[in-house]
Amino acid sequence: MYLPAVLNLLQASLSSLTGLLEFGLPASVSPHDFDGFATLSPYHDRAHVPGVAADLPSDCSVDQVMLLHRHGSRGPEWEDKYIQKLVETLDNFSQVIHRAHLPPNLRFLKDGYESDLVPHELTVVGRRQLFDHGVDFALQYPSLSTSVVLSSPVQRVVDSSHYFGHGFFGGDVGKVEFVTVDELDVPVNWITPWKSCSKYSEAKGHAAASAWRSKYVPTITQRLSRQLGFQLSDDDTQGALYACPYDLAAHNESPWCDAFHNHELRSLEYEYDLLMDRISGRMSENDPGPILGSVYVNKLIERFTNATGDAKELYLEFGHDTSILLVLSALGLNKDRTLLPEDHIRTHRKFRTSEQTPFAARMVWEKFSCEKSFRGPQIRLLLNSATYPLTTCQKSLKDREFGSCSVKEFIGANEFSLNVHYGDETWNTTCVD
Ligand SMILES: *[C@@H]1O[C@H](CO)[C@@H](O)[C@H](O)[C@H]1NC(C)=O
Ligand SMILES: *[C@@H]1O[C@H](CO)[C@@H](O)[C@H](O)[C@H]1NC(C)=O
Ligand SMILES: *[C@@H]1O[C@H](CO)[C@@H](O)[C@H](O)[C@H]1NC(C)=O
Repeated sequence: MYLPAVLNLLQASLSSLTGLLEFGLPASVSPHDFDGFATLSPYHDRAHVPGVAADLPSDCSVDQVMLLHRHGSRGPEWEDKYIQKLVETLDNFSQVIHRAHLPPNLRFLKDGYESDLVPHELTVVGRRQLFDHGVDFALQYPSLSTSVVLSSPVQRVVDSSHYFGHGFFGGDVGKVEFVTVDELDVPVNWITPWKSCSKYSEAKGHAAASAWRSKYVPTITQRLSRQLGFQLSDDDTQGALYACPYDLAAHNESPWCDAFHNHELRSLEYEYDLLMDRISGRMSENDPGPILGSVYVNKLIERFTNATGDAKELYLEFGHDTSILLVLSALGLNKDRTLLPEDHIRTHRKFRTSEQTPFAARMVWEKFSCEKSFRGPQIRLLLNSATYPLTTCQKSLKDREFGSCSVKEFIGANEFSLNVHYGDETWNTTCVD
């Protein structure tokens, strides 16, 4: 149980070492060893938190579950133009590349590099992630079911919900009603709450990512240009960096991943963490993050307390990385004490989307009750299969042992969210111009 953490530490210190001792040949990484591509990471389980039990005591049973699932691996979005430009540049210089003496990790370029990525869409790899997760879920909760699946209206998310549905419901999937949030009659929904917040913007995130890029990309451009024998632009380098995780997302392999040092890929990871940290927001910055995340937290409390008298035993809901990050933000569970810097990597940070929201990330909220171990209904969060300790509402040693807390304490710890209502003063200050 402690091993993964030790290995991670070891890996981290090795990679910072290779960063210091830069001797020409890249310490190349196999994509199979490296899954730290932030929100572009292929799905992988989180490591268990040392000291937190993986399973509930045997006298407890889970009686209600809310799943919030990110769509699976997809094609590029704004990054596509960089990858296309790289392809064009390499094509223009194919004669130079043909004559050049390339190091082994760049020799694949002799055969040319083409890209067939389909922007925005769920990939075959993504399709499998969701089907597998549907199967996993059925095995994990054999006694829970529902007749409704809810998702964001974006096509890759709708597709993801269907592939999950095939895994989970099997042949009965045809009887299930698939609904998208825009069909709900609510002023704000808990999967894409930013749609009801006109001041919400991703501009701060892109500005921070861009500031960080200007620190780390030019050095890589110099190195690659030297190795290839012609001048690349920083845009081309960005294309090459993005090609690595996006090839993995589409094909499970990429020749580009071996073209980079481990510490360069860590910089790419940090670029996306900065982007998402600024987007999903923090209370101290007066950002919409926690306000928007409160919509889900309030839904969670409403359902787990059966406040409306019509709560179901199971909710299967599908959204985006931001959908999940906003919830962690409102709960104060991934917030670093000070803002992540834009000029160097903060290695020790709570905000780490490689762990929190890889493609096909699964956030599972369990309500459980026990004969002896706990008194009253309890809550536990499983994020990507490992308990995410609810540090903000834990009271007893038992709470810490299982990473859980009572529904009562959970409610007490989330007064901030409970006091936010769509269209009230707090909401309007943050969301309305
Ligand atoms: C590739 O060459 C064409 C024709 O000379 C030129 O128009 C284009 O801008 C070049 N593309 C890049 C990315 O350098
Ligand atoms: C919520 O309350 C209603 C009415 O008492 C009940 O029928 C339903 O089963 C409850 N839901 C859950 C999840 O306990
Ligand atoms: C918030 O804004 C909405 C829309 O502009 C408005 O109808 C509502 O009265 C405002 N709420 C408060 C508390 O001012």
